[in-house]
Amino acid sequence: MENELILLREELVKPTPLEQFMTWYEEAFHSEGELIANAMTLATVDEDNKPSARLVMLKGLSSEGFVFYTNFHSRKGHDLARNSYAALVFWWPKLARQVRVQGVVQTFDPTQSTEFFQERPRAFQIGTWASPQSQIVPDLDYLVERHKEVEQKYSEGAIPRPPHWGGYMMLPERMEFWQGNDNHLHDRLEYQRLDSGDWQLHRLAP
Ligand SMILES: Cc1cc2nc3c(=O)[nH]c(=O)nc-3n(C[C@H](O)[C@H](O)[C@H](O)COP(=O)(O)O)c2cc1C
Repeated sequence: MENELILLREELVKPTPLEQFMTWYEEAFHSEGELIANAMTLATVDEDNKPSARLVMLKGLSSEGFVFYTNFHSRKGHDLARNSYAALVFWWPKLARQVRVQGVVQTFDPTQSTEFFQERPRAFQIGTWASPQSQIVPDLDYLVERHKEVEQKYSEGAIPRPPHWGGYMMLPERMEFWQGNDNHLHDRLEYQRLDSGDWQLHRLAP
């Protein structure tokens, strides 16, 4: 481990977990690079209470929560429509840090989703129309054909955001910051949101 001296102490962390996250996220950006710093595991639960997890990219962060973009008709989209509770995990290996988030996911502001969509590369935009994310398809040719059809349909002008694609925001209820240490006394500080809206901080055993 490279960061023997990094410690996570109650008196050093920020009063709210999102402020603390922003500090760590910035440090992760500098040490890990964008692809790793942004990547987060999103876990959702299906109608039989069976969890499933996949990576998505963090594309927005505010004092309220974490924003990611996807297809609302995907497996995760169906899970979230039924059960809005979900979990996120970030892992920043060079810093020996993990952040766990548990909370409720809401559909994100459609205007901001549209703005985000319009800034994406054209090939990405075509994919959101052409690819029925998470559905079983006959073969690769089927997808290639659908891409061609969408390309032709929108050969001129801007591509509109599909109604089935956009952002979600995860509003945290519980967040844990894990700092690995060489002596295996890893630090774990957890923030829990009280009914009053205040955050309570406690230490967990590693
Ligand atoms: C590093 C990485 C980042 C990804 N980012 C996204 C993303 O931001 N949005 C998304 O819909 N899928 C993203 N994916 C693909 C998902 O992991 C997943 O395959 C897809 O969303 C379908 O998931 P589902 O069938 O569970 O709904 C990413 C995959 C990787 C490996």
